[in-house]
Amino acid sequence: MKSFLNAETKENLQKAKADPDRLSFHLMPATGWLNDPNGLYQKDGTYHIFYQYAPQQADGKSLKGWGHYTTKDFIHYTQQKPMLFPDALMDSHGAYSGSAFEDGDTIHFYYTGNGKEEGDYDYINEGRRHWVNHFTTKDGIHFSDKETLLKNADYPSDLSCHVRDPKVIKEGDTYYMVLGARTRDSHGQVNVFASQDLLHWQPVSVIRPTEDFGYMWECPDVFDLDGKRLLITCPQGIDQQGYNYENIYQNGYFFLQPDLSRDQRVSHFQELDHGFDFYAPQTFEDEQGRRILIGWMGIPDADYTNPSTDTYGWQHALTLPRVLHVQGDRLYQYPVEEITALRTNQSHLSLTEGKPVSLPTSTFELQLDVENKPFVLRLRKDVRLSWDGKLFTLDLGNSGSGRDARHLVIDHMTSLSVFSDTSSLEIFINQGEYAFTTRVYDDQKDLQIVADRSMQGMLYTLSGFEIDWGYVPGEAQK
Ligand code: FRU
Repeated sequence: MKSFLNAETKENLQKAKADPDRLSFHLMPATGWLNDPNGLYQKDGTYHIFYQYAPQQADGKSLKGWGHYTTKDFIHYTQQKPMLFPDALMDSHGAYSGSAFEDGDTIHFYYTGNGKEEGDYDYINEGRRHWVNHFTTKDGIHFSDKETLLKNADYPSDLSCHVRDPKVIKEGDTYYMVLGARTRDSHGQVNVFASQDLLHWQPVSVIRPTEDFGYMWECPDVFDLDGKRLLITCPQGIDQQGYNYENIYQNGYFFLQPDLSRDQRVSHFQELDHGFDFYAPQTFEDEQGRRILIGWMGIPDADYTNPSTDTYGWQHALTLPRVLHVQGDRLYQYPVEEITALRTNQSHLSLTEGKPVSLPTSTFELQLDVENKPFVLRLRKDVRLSWDGKLFTLDLGNSGSGRDARHLVIDHMTSLSVFSDTSSLEIFINQGEYAFTTRVYDDQKDLQIVADRSMQGMLYTLSGFEIDWGYVPGEAQK
């Protein structure tokens, strides 16, 4: 689709690159807007990372298609030509989120085609098309034509028009597709469809919360890990409760029972990442058998901003890929080991009370022994991380661009890891038991670390991703 790719002009690409807040080891849109990771898979050693992409505008208001990165090592990337455009009735108002499913030598993609009828509609219960569309590839570069597999009329009649973000899993001989849904009376849930051939799907069951839990659940993802079955999803419409659910929309997981052909009720939702900028994560199993999660380092409809959006014409990024594990009743997440190849220099860090240590760069990895003792740590310029033996607080001070503080009650704290990029922080507590992801905006000069007590750790400076173009940007698709 010509107009979509024409936004990738030399001028726009250079403008985005010139931004001092441009990230160094995170994937971003070349220009314009990025949101959810989509269609993640690895085949023949190559990881494919698709994402919601709207190069025309950085504010998320223009039509979305899919962008595409590939990598073999999570360090060197190729920016592939975007391959899915909102250019047909089936996705006229956006080629929305979806996923990949590997079957033999073929990768099947399922995504939501968003469409709006013309007229006076609420676009919730009337007037919106949310169709499941499908296409395939064998080599990850050439894709079949897209086709529609499910329309709104194929969904159970108690559902509103908001039924989206398909993800497929195989159980026994049956394929199951989960779709995030809003019922006509505004309850969030996951609807499950079954198929024997990956093309024809029938509704079979519903996953509902035991007690009402928001009006819409987005981006469901069901997988088995370490002997447990989990559902990750993003509920909308949940009020803050104490230190829980501090963001506008939530991200987190439930444990599930194995049989997807039966209705089930879920409870004990646990938040996955407690930072300001994390949403719509998607997981996949790689060729080493690792369950890897990538999230959108952003969130819709927040009242805080990314200040360089207007000046430099780009917004948002993906998180580092994180390996998942279940331990007890917690889902742990930690950046893939490959990221350690970014380390350029390492030094032992010995903090003493009130004595600042200068940081040579804004791009670093910090590992601290917290020894289960309360602390206050100031980082970069204004960031304050503290734990009083019970409450962990991330406070961005003057560098939040509208982001204030996020909290979490933690009983036991042994370690703190921080991956700091030019304008982001990914914070992992107890080797990934808890996570906080946020953008951060300071001037990146005279950065330092200072603690209120002695602490020992390691500091690594980090280099950036290397990203090549696999096509000539700006070139029309067809
Ligand atoms: C989540 C989401 C999805 C949708 C996509 C559209 O951020 O709202 O539910 O498919 O973004 O870009």
